[in-house]
Amino acid sequence: MQRAPKATTHDLSRNKMSYAVTGGFLLVCLSALLCEALSAQTHSLQSASPVQLTIDPTQIVTPVSPMLYGMMTEEINHAFDGGLYAELIQNRTFRGSWQGIEHWTLVRNGVAKASMQVDRSSGPSKALPYSVRLNVDSASRGNEAGLSNGGYWGIAVKPHTAYRGLLYAKLDDPAIGPVTARLISDRTGAVLAEAKIPIHTGDWSSYHYTLTTNAELVPSSENHLQLSVEHSGRVWLQLVSLMPPTFNDRPNGNRVDLMERMAALHPRFLRLPGGNYLEGDRLNDWYNFKETIGPLVDRPGHQAPWTYWSTDGMGLLEFLEWCEDLKIEPVLAVYAGYSLRGDHISPGKDLDPYVQAAIDEVEYVTGDSNTKWGAERARDGHPAPFPLHYIEIGNEDWFDKSGSYDARFAQFARALRKQYPQYKLISTAPVKEEAADEQPDVQDDHYYKPSAEMLNFVHHYDDAPRTGPKIFIGEWATLSGSPTPNFGGALADAAWMTSMERNSDLIIMASYAPLLVNVNPQASQWRTNLIGYNAIKTYASPSYYAQALFAGHLGDGTARTAITGAGDRLFYSATVSSNDQVLHLKLVNASSQDQPLEIDLHGVTGEHTAKMTTLHAATYEATNTLNDPNLIHPVDAPLHVSGGNWKHTIPALTIEVMDIPLH
Ligand code: AHR
Repeated sequence: MQRAPKATTHDLSRNKMSYAVTGGFLLVCLSALLCEALSAQTHSLQSASPVQLTIDPTQIVTPVSPMLYGMMTEEINHAFDGGLYAELIQNRTFRGSWQGIEHWTLVRNGVAKASMQVDRSSGPSKALPYSVRLNVDSASRGNEAGLSNGGYWGIAVKPHTAYRGLLYAKLDDPAIGPVTARLISDRTGAVLAEAKIPIHTGDWSSYHYTLTTNAELVPSSENHLQLSVEHSGRVWLQLVSLMPPTFNDRPNGNRVDLMERMAALHPRFLRLPGGNYLEGDRLNDWYNFKETIGPLVDRPGHQAPWTYWSTDGMGLLEFLEWCEDLKIEPVLAVYAGYSLRGDHISPGKDLDPYVQAAIDEVEYVTGDSNTKWGAERARDGHPAPFPLHYIEIGNEDWFDKSGSYDARFAQFARALRKQYPQYKLISTAPVKEEAADEQPDVQDDHYYKPSAEMLNFVHHYDDAPRTGPKIFIGEWATLSGSPTPNFGGALADAAWMTSMERNSDLIIMASYAPLLVNVNPQASQWRTNLIGYNAIKTYASPSYYAQALFAGHLGDGTARTAITGAGDRLFYSATVSSNDQVLHLKLVNASSQDQPLEIDLHGVTGEHTAKMTTLHAATYEATNTLNDPNLIHPVDAPLHVSGGNWKHTIPALTIEVMDIPLH
């Protein structure tokens, strides 16, 4: 069944590439800023007299999807490299550019004489067939020669911590001696940790080293890694890696602080691997999972659409382990033959290899270890299959003006359903019934809107037909605040979440995007993102707190409600947890006036002490930052509630989440 045409919109731009290129992106930012300014004038449309809100938690009108809140991810804003993926070394594979070997500098202490070059003729693997060659003409103790790397705008070093290093090296003459790895403070030059790595003569080998800091060290991120020698000679290096302790001690794992932030969002799924990142700018840049698995030395990396290179250290297995660590399930997006520059692979035999790649990818995720790709996963260290229920075909294919998506979707759907009938398929655009013999189970709609628009949009799905595919809001965000949302953004996000909860019989999943931003100015490409961080710290935006509260207090059914006398800046959701017999009442006052309410609570008798969590700020512009991470944060307080008629005032610019016991 085809959904009504209004169901799919992407409101910022008709031209997808305008996100990735600076000019277009500036336009997006300017229009968002203009709308933010306009929206401020519309925030005080609230009712002065009490609003009558009637709630009957004994009457459940629609179910709430248990999968409603999840996360969406892709390599944007240094979300993985320089973000969640714990690798500390930037450009660990010595990719060169016209500026030289980016992020690496030559070290010549004292009177040492040396140079470094990319050597395209020698590398440790087919995926990394090149390396850096350090040529040392003279060096000695105190006059070392080598290379240094400042990490992703700093290297976080903490006390009493072991950092696990890996490098590949080749030597033609042992006289050069061992390579010494050191973590060094940028400010003082103090050596914070050191390890000697003896390299043997001959062909390429991998070497592991450990840098351990002492207990007295003061945590900082103004540090660099130095690799140096004390004698003349030549050494070739490749894949220089340094990992701090990771979440659940995964050897190729994730930053602990960011994983903890994500866990506290109470997500139920992770949509991966994108976003534009799935598609790539050109047809050749598509996300080919086969190049992202196995030993790091066999991963070539690839050009990602958000202007920088992806190491693919965060590969398919790492995405799946990220899900496993957070006890959530992947929503796997497979490449569907459309690239951001507008080219597509013609449906039919040209598309067959990509369809096969999708089938292989699903087998890698879910196959037993006696299947070809399940066995590959087992060899990669994970014999057990991962859970999977949803497969998404493509990303934002409504941009494909050639109209090829109907046939591309149908070709993928036929093959995937034949092989894996148990999975639900998600389309990224409406699929015309007359054009495609396969219909999606779920359709992915995306919304990025300035706050006034988002506030005016909350009734969008109230009257949408319930006869077509279910809806996945695979990307959504109020564009207000940068690099993370301000409180005006959080209010509009919360308003939108009340709408998704109310319509969760139709909207079965939703994920805010982008999720992560390295706030270093050189690291980010998108204006409004949920969680900010640098090399050593993270912070939660007001919208993050709103989302964590909404997801953490969600029932399995929506109660019958009625409201009268409300202005258009008051929003609410009332869901009931049937097992615990708790009403989760969420109120959002996005106006600049306090709002009195008379709440008629049916089916509840007597007096109750409810738990209320409040998120409030003095202005729409107020926000959290790296340096002021807790300006806006949830505050818990008990709340006196009486069945029957109960008077309550929600202050201006406030989000309230209440857990009201029903007996
Ligand atoms: O979230 C940022 C981008 O917005 C995603 O990569 C893309 O799917 C959308 O256009």
